Amino acid sequence: MHSTVNSLNDVRVGVVGPGRLGSALAAALRDAGVAVDGPAGRGEAPEKCDAIVLCVPDGEIEAAAAAVAGAAPLVGHTSGATPLTALAPAGGGAFGLHPLQTFAAGSTGLAAFAGAGCAVAGTTAEALAFAADLARVLGMTPFEIDDEGRAAYHAAASVASNFLVTLLAAAERIAAGAGLEPDEARQLLLPLLRRTIDNVGELGPERALTGPVARGDEATVAAQRRAVAEAAPELLDLFDQLVHHTRALSGARAGETPRTRPSRALGAMQTVRTVAELREALAPERRAGRSVGLVPTMGALHEGHLALLRQARADCDVVVMSLFVNPTQFGPSEDLDAYPRDEQRDAALAGAEGVDLLFAPTAEEVYPPGFATTVTVAGLTGVLDGAPEHRGPEHFAGVTTVVTKLLNMAAPDVAYFGQKDAQQALVIRRLVRDLDIPVRIEVCPTVRDADGLALSSRNAYLSPAERERALGLSRALRAAEAEVAAGHLDAAAVLAAARAQLDEHGIDPEYLELRSAADLSPAERVNGSTLLAVAARVGRARLIDNTILGGTS
Ligand code: PAJ
Repeated sequence: MHSTVNSLNDVRVGVVGPGRLGSALAAALRDAGVAVDGPAGRGEAPEKCDAIVLCVPDGEIEAAAAAVAGAAPLVGHTSGATPLTALAPAGGGAFGLHPLQTFAAGSTGLAAFAGAGCAVAGTTAEALAFAADLARVLGMTPFEIDDEGRAAYHAAASVASNFLVTLLAAAERIAAGAGLEPDEARQLLLPLLRRTIDNVGELGPERALTGPVARGDEATVAAQRRAVAEAAPELLDLFDQLVHHTRALSGARAGETPRTRPSRALGAMQTVRTVAELREALAPERRAGRSVGLVPTMGALHEGHLALLRQARADCDVVVMSLFVNPTQFGPSEDLDAYPRDEQRDAALAGAEGVDLLFAPTAEEVYPPGFATTVTVAGLTGVLDGAPEHRGPEHFAGVTTVVTKLLNMAAPDVAYFGQKDAQQALVIRRLVRDLDIPVRIEVCPTVRDADGLALSSRNAYLSPAERERALGLSRALRAAEAEVAAGHLDAAAVLAAARAQLDEHGIDPEYLELRSAADLSPAERVNGSTLLAVAARVGRARLIDNTILGGTS
């Protein structure tokens, strides 16, 4: 690469390929005072040239080289990725000239190339020198890349240019979650992008890095992750990977918690569908002595479910969430078919809470042909929801059977349930105790909307007017609590206060009952831990809620 630009004074360069690069290259060479023929169409051979540059798609280089065979002593291509051997059909010396620049729109003349780097290669010293001269005459800085280094060089270029475009498009999509239109978001983000690029140029990547990951502000990173999960769940993998690599760049250690989970990259949730896969994924964790937490769900996740996931994440090394709409706990006239299902959304939300394993089996996996076993808990399951006139004991048989199976499948150290389903939690505690299942059951408080409505996947069935009526349930419970606080402890007074609220909201409950929070036996008075439970149909939705009066369970 020691020849000078002057060597191009007397040469004639043919350009083949009338696309963006071919047109820009021909025009820029002319601007630079080089005699140019073209750009010619693909398959055409410029005449009487000293060198020909093929500006054609990678897959067409060999054919284009064959088409210009013998037409010039030097033939080159402008591909970043293609080895020079592709030019062999042209005969003579081969060279490569890959401007490290993008020509997306309206790039014309010398300005399109000036200042850029340019990868050059040659099969002969003359071919290499010629390519370097071409680069220099266009104002570019030539650097040699041989065939062996080509793929890595080209990948680096793609990361710096193409993927940056992908990143900006991702930023626009995420900004939509803040209500910004894509055009608006782009205009707002571009000055930031430009300054960032300038900073990297001046300071290098490590020192140019700013923001929550670099500061080690994990709470903000987690909040961002949740927002991405909501606005653009398909970008969550990308976000996780970028956080991971940004952490590595900043030298910040991933997750400053004392618990480390070295077998799993933070945020990389794995979805498994069979019991065998679940056990295989958990075996090394258990061998390494890591604790496992299980959160059984039927999906349609809301903050109530997320609170369980957070508790599991705080307590355990490995968090498993099961997602299975269990058909056996739905009665024939219940909402099995209508039950909301959106695995992609649920997976994104679970991933955002740091779930390690999503276990989402099919009904056949859980209930293979010939399945014949039912696990029932007597007594507790015949009242409230289990009363024959309500969901019936079969509902709980479905729950206890599937929960037994899930506990056997995942063999967790701790399993998490919600107080929202107080009877279910009680039944599961009894199940685990009676069958000596080696698991600790954690019951987490009911999560409510700001106006008091207990969160439920079935709230999705409510129209705005029905949702307003549904507030009657939680208000009835609050009225009962007020009654107890005022010293009125007998069942009649407490139930009357609650019923007045239900009446006011036009709700005729399936049941409104006061029972012992320990064994669900009927309670005549609020006495120690007493459960006030209510169930009512509001529109299509069957809703339940409860509170513990006079102490804690
Ligand atoms: P599902 O209704 O999806 O609820 C999963 C878990 O989330 C249950 O333990 C439930 O009590 C809890 N949960 C629901 N709403 C809650 C809220 N507002 N606050 C706190 N926790 C809440 O319950 C089931 O699924 C199934 O019966 C299951 C146990 C998965 C067996 O199929």
